[in-house]
Amino acid sequence: MNKVLIIHGPNLNLLGTREPEIYGSDTLDDINRYVAEALAPFQLELDFFQSNHEGAIIDRLHAAAGAYDGVVINPAAYTHYSIAIRDAIAGIDLPVVEVHLSDIHKREAFRRVSVIRDVCYMQISGFGKNSYVFGVEALMGWQALQEIARAAHGADWQRRALQILSGRFPPFQVLHLYRQGEDGKLVLQASAGGQDVHNDIPRVCTQAVRSAEVQSATTPDGVPEIAVPVQNTAVLYAAFAPVGRSFEEHDRFLLQRVAGILAGGGAGAR
Ligand code: DQA
Repeated sequence: MNKVLIIHGPNLNLLGTREPEIYGSDTLDDINRYVAEALAPFQLELDFFQSNHEGAIIDRLHAAAGAYDGVVINPAAYTHYSIAIRDAIAGIDLPVVEVHLSDIHKREAFRRVSVIRDVCYMQISGFGKNSYVFGVEALMGWQALQEIARAAHGADWQRRALQILSGRFPPFQVLHLYRQGEDGKLVLQASAGGQDVHNDIPRVCTQAVRSAEVQSATTPDGVPEIAVPVQNTAVLYAAFAPVGRSFEEHDRFLLQRVAGILAGGGAGAR
């Protein structure tokens, strides 16, 4: 993911003074600056666009195909009824993530409906300005998934899959794949990422295999960690850098998709 377009829909130019109890007091410029700074470590090229006009947003989406690697869009009120924006997203060959500042699922009934949700890779709603940061991260995850799916064959592909994930999705600093041995104990099978934070098998891994459910925790030194079962006999483990943010829904989504690929030897990538 090199070039990303971030589109803001109608009335978002009023942020700062528009219903601050819902949308906060940051202006749109403040938000764009924050997003660019938060994503600076990933060295992406980010462009921002705002319009109050449906046609202008559609034109920008059309022009994005071929010029960008992905789009993050907050279609604002158009989310809830613009079939034209939905069709534009469906009609371009680009990954698109839908984002919202407020949690549209906890507001009026008419806001809970998104007509664009199912033509987008993911919907991220309710994290304020971080929704945009997570939206771009989700695009990086999408790219990792495509590459992992392509790499899912040949010898040693699971280790390569972890390397691709840690390279393409830098928030994951440590990635391990453990598999149950004959005695039922977990054994490290593949590893990627920076310095190891554990000498022993992390407790969350044992818990994840036992419960067959995703488990998350924090290491004694404050590192957020998560373990995702792979077919009940293996577990995919990820940890953030100590300075990292906590695990969010899009992280879990990505790891579960990767676990699906690891389980199926390539199936489940899309
Ligand atoms: C919004 C939510 C929409 O329902 C609303 O019309 C907006 C902003 C959000 O970011 O929370 O204008 O997309």
